[in-house]
Amino acid sequence: MRRPADAFHPDGSPNRRRHTMSHSTFPPGSIGRRKFLLGSAGLLTAGAASRFATPALAQTAPLRVGFMLPYSGTFAKLGKFIDDGFRLYVEQNGGVLGGRRIEFIQVDDESKPESATDNMNRLVGREKVDVVIGTVHSGVAMAMVKVARDTNTMLIIPNAGVNEATGPLCAPNIFRTSFSNWQVCHPMGKVMFDAGHRNVATITWRYAAGTQMIDAFKEGFTKAGGKIAEDLALPFPEVEFQALITRIATLKPDAVFAFFAGGGAVKFVKDYAAAGLDKSIPLYGAGFLTDGTAPAQGAAANGVKTTLHYADDLDNPANKRFLEAFKAKTGQDGDIYAVQGYDAAALLKAGLEAAKGDWSQRGAVVAGMRAAKIDSPRGPLSFNRANNPIQNVYLREVRNGRNELISIAGQAVDDPARGCRA
Ligand code: BEZ
Repeated sequence: MRRPADAFHPDGSPNRRRHTMSHSTFPPGSIGRRKFLLGSAGLLTAGAASRFATPALAQTAPLRVGFMLPYSGTFAKLGKFIDDGFRLYVEQNGGVLGGRRIEFIQVDDESKPESATDNMNRLVGREKVDVVIGTVHSGVAMAMVKVARDTNTMLIIPNAGVNEATGPLCAPNIFRTSFSNWQVCHPMGKVMFDAGHRNVATITWRYAAGTQMIDAFKEGFTKAGGKIAEDLALPFPEVEFQALITRIATLKPDAVFAFFAGGGAVKFVKDYAAAGLDKSIPLYGAGFLTDGTAPAQGAAANGVKTTLHYADDLDNPANKRFLEAFKAKTGQDGDIYAVQGYDAAALLKAGLEAAKGDWSQRGAVVAGMRAAKIDSPRGPLSFNRANNPIQNVYLREVRNGRNELISIAGQAVDDPARGCRA
């Protein structure tokens, strides 16, 4: 039985769990650090085998998958759900993708950009993983992208939206199963203008994801004819929102557009309602504001409208199967993070199948991944020339703890991949 996901800390602050790295082979389940160190010599032999052995051995040794995700801090639940979603897909395939058994190594990146290069180097250098799955935080992802490019390591990003990863830093070995920060927020500009809002305030954390999501929303909104009342921000991952909420009350905009996620999103939505603003100034946002967080936000989230590449009640067989299986495995309701982890495993399978399990055939792996057409719980999923998803973006509204579909805000939305020379 796997551990349930960390509950949100009421103030969204980082918890006290220490940085850890652990490994496991299927069936999943991590082991302690001491055990990991004891087991590492044998594992290094397996890792070396997958790189240097004969083609036959290269196709039978386990594929080493390194998870670099936040397992602590304000994004802890997001990391855990990505991990659970990925493992669910592997389990459904009997522990084997494209003929290769899957072996897991985990590192807690704590959503700390300053530790990201070391963590990534450890996975790639010491642990000799074949592929890295990570991460949630855009700043951490930027460091991972640089190491992946320098070492030609395959990287699948299962959340972080940093535009550069599939923009100027695009590369054949860097894929994303999530979104770009531009992609999920640009459609909301027109949605809010069409809803009659002309003067909108924005609020976010001041870091890559926050800045890029707000910029994308503003691009769509001002192009439609809207005006920005004021941009408000606080450092990541601070959650002292009171002064900014007071400023919104003073500005009296027609509406607010926000990006927060995880524990910080829970607290922001509750504070906004506690200040009574939900009655007079409608709250909109990037879908992360309420995805996976709506149950913890309770009545405070009712009526919040967001755009995202997922909605809880998407009426397709893949979503129904996924939600049922995720609940059976974890006892929890799936969300976008679990979907993105699940689809990362599906993408890896497409690459391995195209190369007949031989990971050293990188050209075939990349071609297989780029051509993948995934029947995702989110709807149809394919990839553009920069390896970023092409996908629907949905307008949703929270009703009784669920992000319910209102309409399709953008059909098969493609990121412009600005600066990508692929
Ligand atoms: C990001 O940093 O890219 C991010 C974090 C949480 C949710 C969505 C995006």
